[in-house]
Amino acid sequence: MKKNTVTLTDNRTGKTYEYNILDAARGPSVVDIRTFFQDTGMFTFDPGYTSTASCKSTITFIDGEKGELRYRGIPIEKLAKEHTYMETCFLLLNERLPSIDEHKEFDLELRHRAFLHEGLRQLFNAFPDNAHPMATLSAAVTALASFYREHLELDTEEEYQAMARRIIAKIPTIAAFSYRHSLGIPFIQPDIDLYFTRNFLTMMRAYPGGKMHLGLHGHEEIKEVEVRALDTIFTLHADHEQNASTTVVRNVASTGAHPYVAIASGISALWGRAHGGANESVIAQLEMIGSVENIDTFIARAKDPNDNFRLMGFGHRVYKNFDPRARILKHLQDELRIELGLNTELMAIARKIEEIALSDEYFISRNLYPNIDFYTGIILTALQIPKSMFTPIFVIGRTVGWISQLIEFKKDKSSKIARPRQLYTGK
Ligand code: CMC
Repeated sequence: MKKNTVTLTDNRTGKTYEYNILDAARGPSVVDIRTFFQDTGMFTFDPGYTSTASCKSTITFIDGEKGELRYRGIPIEKLAKEHTYMETCFLLLNERLPSIDEHKEFDLELRHRAFLHEGLRQLFNAFPDNAHPMATLSAAVTALASFYREHLELDTEEEYQAMARRIIAKIPTIAAFSYRHSLGIPFIQPDIDLYFTRNFLTMMRAYPGGKMHLGLHGHEEIKEVEVRALDTIFTLHADHEQNASTTVVRNVASTGAHPYVAIASGISALWGRAHGGANESVIAQLEMIGSVENIDTFIARAKDPNDNFRLMGFGHRVYKNFDPRARILKHLQDELRIELGLNTELMAIARKIEEIALSDEYFISRNLYPNIDFYTGIILTALQIPKSMFTPIFVIGRTVGWISQLIEFKKDKSSKIARPRQLYTGK
């Protein structure tokens, strides 16, 4: 009978070592090399973790070849079409979709937990005008840990849930305050009568004390189509298994640090242009390109091996055929163009770039397809959300994923402090 193992031979000594293969419920199996150093006296070398599974997880499954993404077994297309972001949050935290009553209770509790302690509110005064909302957001989430010291020690399911619900509820308020601080305009408090996503848009746009909202193209109220579009964006961002920021969250949590400090570290990691910061860079790049006539020059730069220029919003470490989130957003973008009568120059440049890149040998041979950030940038611009808020919006969506991964890590008795080794090449 064939054994479910891998045998490695050290060709210097002829010694062989046998390692078990652990089968995944879906996707590639893994070789269990936990005793490799003990057995061989050698480390494995895998910078950037291109071949390394850093943990076991039951939360999110991605098949990069097929372009498949599932949260708790449910395809992302189904969640985006049939469920709200609130239901998706419940699903990620509880491993199943909520009943009607559970949904109501969850939604109501989050509305009540959206307020910030007055002391935390004062913190914003310390930041300079024009501070980037991501810097303020990360700092304010670290500060949040000082208000909820009880979440440092988590034991019962109720304690985990309270910690998770509190941060998911407060992140939109902190993000909206960060934005308003960057403009020097007064904060708008959360409104418990409003659904999560509408509440966030209101905290971003409303005039202090009044009912008037700065809506799309002069409309006073926030339109339902805008709420739906942003809600879908939150759902698509909710989790993405062991990406860079999630790995940071798990690693910080592995030291026993406060969960909110781990989330703040995830926010910092997400800010980078190769990760969540790409959505802001996509629009900055489209603005730099300026018009359809200039596209060829920038495509040529993206292909030049001697030029560091990259086409932002293209490529992905895991998706090698298409990003399913991008496909959903492409449809959403088309719907918005029709429903809101939008057809901006930026959208025209984006469409042309997409068309060229999808038929160009350089991009095809490297499997470089538009990713989620390519479309979020365009849609959020269409919703009149300023560039500096694109990555904070990614944070709002992703917080539930980070927290679910952190909880999974903490409940797993085999979890260890993250402590990789190195190949020393110095003096
Ligand atoms: N434009 C031009 N060339 C590219 C691009 C791009 N956007 N992305 C990768 N390449 C080329 C790269 O130069 C390399 O070419 P060669 O083989 O000739 O050296 C090849 O494609 C492989 O690139 P890589 O950097 O080894 O791939 P990676 O898996 O390490 O990086 C990535 C993935 C997403 C960091 C990268 O594609 C990138 O920088 N994209 C632009 C930034 C972006 O859109 N990021 C958002 C990612 S999706 C949201 C998220 O998860 O946060």
